[in-house]
Amino acid sequence: MSAAEQKSETKPPPPQHVAVIMDGNGRWAKLRGLPRAAGHQAGAEALRRTLRACIELGIGYLTVFAFSSENWKRPEAEVDDLMGLLRFYLKKEISHLKGRGIHLGFLGDRTGLAPDILEIMAHAERETADGKALNVTVALNYGGRDEIIRAVRTLAKECCEGQLSPEAIDEEMLAARLDTAGIPDPDLIVRTSGEQRLSNFLSWQSAYSEMVFIPVLWPDFGRADMEAAIDEYQQRDRRYGAVAVS
Ligand code: IPE
Ligand code: IPE
Ligand code: MG
Repeated sequence: MSAAEQKSETKPPPPQHVAVIMDGNGRWAKLRGLPRAAGHQAGAEALRRTLRACIELGIGYLTVFAFSSENWKRPEAEVDDLMGLLRFYLKKEISHLKGRGIHLGFLGDRTGLAPDILEIMAHAERETADGKALNVTVALNYGGRDEIIRAVRTLAKECCEGQLSPEAIDEEMLAARLDTAGIPDPDLIVRTSGEQRLSNFLSWQSAYSEMVFIPVLWPDFGRADMEAAIDEYQQRDRRYGAVAVS
C-alpha cells in the first residue's frame, strides 16, 4: 500500500460542525476604496457560497458569527447598514433556504434586537424547521460570555425556586441552558482575515475545537478555502487531554 493510500485510510472524518468567524469585510471594502457597507454586502454573498459548499461537502452544522454583542460599539450608521442587510437577506433568502433543505436557527440575546427583526427570525425558524440538509445557526447580538451569564441566571433561578440543588449542577446542565442547547460543539472554528482570536465567539463550546486561521478576507472566501480548512482539520490529532493513539 502506498503512503498516500495509507494516509487516506487513516484520514479522520470531516468535521460534523464547522463554525466561522466571518471577518474582514471592512478591510475588503477599504482595499477597493468602497464604503464598509459594500464589504458587508459582499460578505453576504460569501455566506451564500459557503452554505452551498457546506451542503456539497456533507457538513451537518454550520454556525456563523454575524454580529457580536460588542459590535454595537461601531458607528450607528454601520450598525444600521448591518441590520438593514440582515432584514433584506433573511426575507429574500427564506424560500431558497427552505427549498435547499436548510434549517435556520439563531444564537444570541434577542432582547437587544428590533421587533421587526425578531419577527423575521421567528418566521425563518418556523419556515425552515423541517430542513435536513444543513443546520445553519446565525450568531446575532451574540457574545460567549453573555450567553454563559444568561444560562447561569437560569440555573440560579431554578435553584432559588427549589427545582435544582447547586451541587447537582454539572457541565451538561449548563450546556443545556446555553443558546446552543441541542447543537454539538464545533469541531472546527475557522476565522478569516488573518486575526487570531475568538472575539467572544462560542467561549464555552470551543473548549476542544480545532482552530484554523486563514488570511483571506471574508468576502473572498469560497469553497476552496473551506476545503483547505477541512483538510487542515483532518491532519490534526484531537487528543482531548488523553494520549495519542498511534
Ligand atoms: C466582519 O467584518 C463583519 C462584522 C463584524 C459584522 P468586519 O466589519 O469586522 O471587517 P474588518 O475586520 O473591519 O475588516
Ligand atoms: C468578530 O469580529 C465578530 C464578527 C465576525 C461578527 P470583530 O471584527 O468584531 O472582532 P475584533 O473587534 O477584531 O476582535
Ligand atoms: Mg473585524
